[in-house]
Amino acid sequence: MKVTIDGQSIDVEPGTTILQAARMIGGDLVPPAMCYYSKLKGSGGKCRCCLVEVSKGSEADPRPMPKLMASCVTGCMDGMEVNSKSSDRVTEARKSVTEFLLINHPLDCPICDQAGECDLQNLSFEHGNPKSRFIEEKRTFEPEDIGPNIQLHMNRCILCQRCVQVADQLTDNRVHGVLDRGDHANISTGISKAIDNEFSGNMIDVCPVGALTDKTFRFKSRVWFNKPFNAHRECTTPGCCGKTTVWMFGGEIQRVTGRKDEYHEVEEFICNSCRFDHKNVSDWVIEGPREFEKDSVINQNNYTQKLEKVEIDTEKNILLGRDIDRKKISMAAIPLITNDKKS
Ligand code: SF4
Ligand code: FES
Repeated sequence: MKVTIDGQSIDVEPGTTILQAARMIGGDLVPPAMCYYSKLKGSGGKCRCCLVEVSKGSEADPRPMPKLMASCVTGCMDGMEVNSKSSDRVTEARKSVTEFLLINHPLDCPICDQAGECDLQNLSFEHGNPKSRFIEEKRTFEPEDIGPNIQLHMNRCILCQRCVQVADQLTDNRVHGVLDRGDHANISTGISKAIDNEFSGNMIDVCPVGALTDKTFRFKSRVWFNKPFNAHRECTTPGCCGKTTVWMFGGEIQRVTGRKDEYHEVEEFICNSCRFDHKNVSDWVIEGPREFEKDSVINQNNYTQKLEKVEIDTEKNILLGRDIDRKKISMAAIPLITNDKKS
């Protein structure tokens, strides 16, 4: 079957979705995806980030589809023509979806462990509006303890349900899920059970935002201060590949995660023992540095090119705030460099 996306054609097998076909072509035309996860059966269809315009249904029925379609759950047809990045309608829709997802999402990126590897941050960067039109109070939830390894920040959850699918598909007994409906819908263990299955840590890796974070790494470091390395060990847990990324600060392993691909999806799932219990360098065979896309903040120490001049245009009031903060944390002796003083 031939499908054309933003003018680029590709032959795909029957059953391929538009999003999968786009990923096969690659590049800018690939729609963003917050709930689809290629390794999880039944994922997708929840967040509407991946909307595309189908300008020609198929060779047999060339009529355009009247509504924008979620590319992660729409199958390709022979002769189908799709507009993704090239469509203003799609760009507008992605902006609206981003605005909608941010309605209740707290702006706590400065203290969130997911900052720097958050799909919602990336989506907002590309499609977000710098000014919020939301004047109502954001929805908040009481903190809930869901066990020894994972911290749940329900206020940050976008209800993509990937973590529920991990629990369904990787563990024997799922003890959490989406409770309640509408504005009250939330991720919870319901009767305050602990999530302690051997593969439960993978929920942290699949969560596209900072709603599920690693308690052993919490507040330890910003991810861009860590150096990620591919590593492996002989893991005896059935079903665990033992292949991970270890995040190092100096000679210390601060965090262990699954290895992720360019769409931030883990290549293979790992067990909790690899993730939480093996933080000594001697536990691992370190293979070498992990590569990230060149514009990832995680590459911040790996610039290959020196810029001639770096200009940071910071608003006066923000600088004033920084000055006050600096005094509060007793760094008054360190001079504050502003644009004014530089020039
Ligand atoms: S906790 Fe994370 S993975 Fe689970 S539904 Fe919420 S956003 Fe998705
Ligand atoms: S990625 Fe398609 S609806 Fe969420």
